[in-house]
Amino acid sequence: MKPRRATFVTSAAEPAGFPPPGPPELAFAGRSNVGKSSLLNLLIGKPLARTSSTPGRTRLLNFFDVDLASNTVRFVDLPGYGYAKVPVDMRAGWRPLVEGYLTGRPVLRGVFLLIDIRRGIEDEERELAEYLAELDIPLEVVLTKADKLAKNRRWPVAAAVRRALAMPREPLIASTHTGDGVEDLWRIIRRRVASRGA
Ligand code: GTP
Ligand code: MG
Repeated sequence: MKPRRATFVTSAAEPAGFPPPGPPELAFAGRSNVGKSSLLNLLIGKPLARTSSTPGRTRLLNFFDVDLASNTVRFVDLPGYGYAKVPVDMRAGWRPLVEGYLTGRPVLRGVFLLIDIRRGIEDEERELAEYLAELDIPLEVVLTKADKLAKNRRWPVAAAVRRALAMPREPLIASTHTGDGVEDLWRIIRRRVASRGA
């Protein structure tokens, strides 16, 4: 599925810079370099989000409006965490910025937590999942860069992640290189956007 139209809304370095609440939002979170911006671009169908082989590229929250057949969804590219070489003051800034977003956004319908299929779950992912549960924000997990792992080695990772986070179903397995998982992702997105509340 290709959206009808996608536009960049704004970048925000602090909560004061968030755009006024508009369409329902879905945020993309995960370790730096996991492929958040790449996946957003694939969904949107054009390179609106900046990607890079240099981890820590996205240091702001970036908002994109995407027109679907009958409604609009706002995608939010969250800055990546866990990149050791990023200066300490920037890492210290990540928490208030992302927490400011997650705690103060009634239009937020859910967070996609992206996890590199070769790394699986680590402490940061567990913490973020627990934090979202406390805030009652629906979580969907996407295992990224599936093309880097042989097919028969993907399912065991999915099962382990599901167990670790006590998820009701398996996480999505996706690759921006092959397009795997993208239609499933759209299905979840449309369902989230259509759902009221939660
Ligand atoms: P930050 O903005 O630093 O947090 O990173 P990000 O999560 O937005 O990652 P980004 O989309 O910039 O991708 C990081 C690198 O991973 C780039 O070199 C991408 O080309 C590569 N990449 C992204 N998705 C895939 C994938 O599905 N398969 C493979 N093999 N590489 C990918
Ligand atoms: Mg990025």
